[in-house]
Amino acid sequence: MASVIDLAPSILSANFAQLGADAKAALAGGGTVLHLDVMDGHFVPNITIGPPVVASLRKTIPDVTFDCHLMIENPDDLIPAFADAGCNWISVHQEACRHLDRTLHLIEHHGCKPAVVINPATPVHTLDEVLDIVHHVLVMSVNPGFGGQTFIHNALSKMKQLARIRDERRLNFRIEVDGGVAMDTVVDVVRAGGEILVAGSAVFGHGDIAGHARRLLEAARSAKLTCT
Ligand code: DX5
Ligand code: ZN
Repeated sequence: MASVIDLAPSILSANFAQLGADAKAALAGGGTVLHLDVMDGHFVPNITIGPPVVASLRKTIPDVTFDCHLMIENPDDLIPAFADAGCNWISVHQEACRHLDRTLHLIEHHGCKPAVVINPATPVHTLDEVLDIVHHVLVMSVNPGFGGQTFIHNALSKMKQLARIRDERRLNFRIEVDGGVAMDTVVDVVRAGGEILVAGSAVFGHGDIAGHARRLLEAARSAKLTCT
């Protein structure tokens, strides 16, 4: 199945004192989706942003897809607020959802595309019963909570497995990857089937945000051309 590559800059590594400007620079460099990491200090050992920050970003960036990655306990309680704030895609962790099917339908009910995330220690087969109702599957290639961690290579075999299952079952979900995506890993990630590439420190961590986004996206798209 032909697919496009999307670069989803993760604002976690942006300068939060100038969030709008940093996000716009990443989009100017070719970012096609803005990845918003929401952490509650319980599901993961860190705290980030809530619906008011998303709503402010939405005012300054009206047209880009907001990809909201919820790393929180009890996501059902906050899904309506994140949808109202302007998110387009909302992903929840398999590990955080007692009633995953219900939660994914709740996201859809609030007008967003539902997606599911798995941590490095969670096997792909735990998603068998929801693959037909998700817009994408997000494979974590680090343990969630922080930017700038080292890529965990088992994510590659999980992405390949997902691509194979999608073919066999003739499904349509996309494959997203998050954590340690950078110039030294992006070729392997794309060859393994990654289509929506989340990148935080590789885009925001070294100055010239637009330039780093552009080079990463170019590397990803050329890797895609050589593997199709
Ligand atoms: C980590 C977050 C990621 C993070 C990735 O829990 O989900 O989106 O920003 O950061 P990098 O790209 O620096 O690994
Ligand atoms: Zn994320």
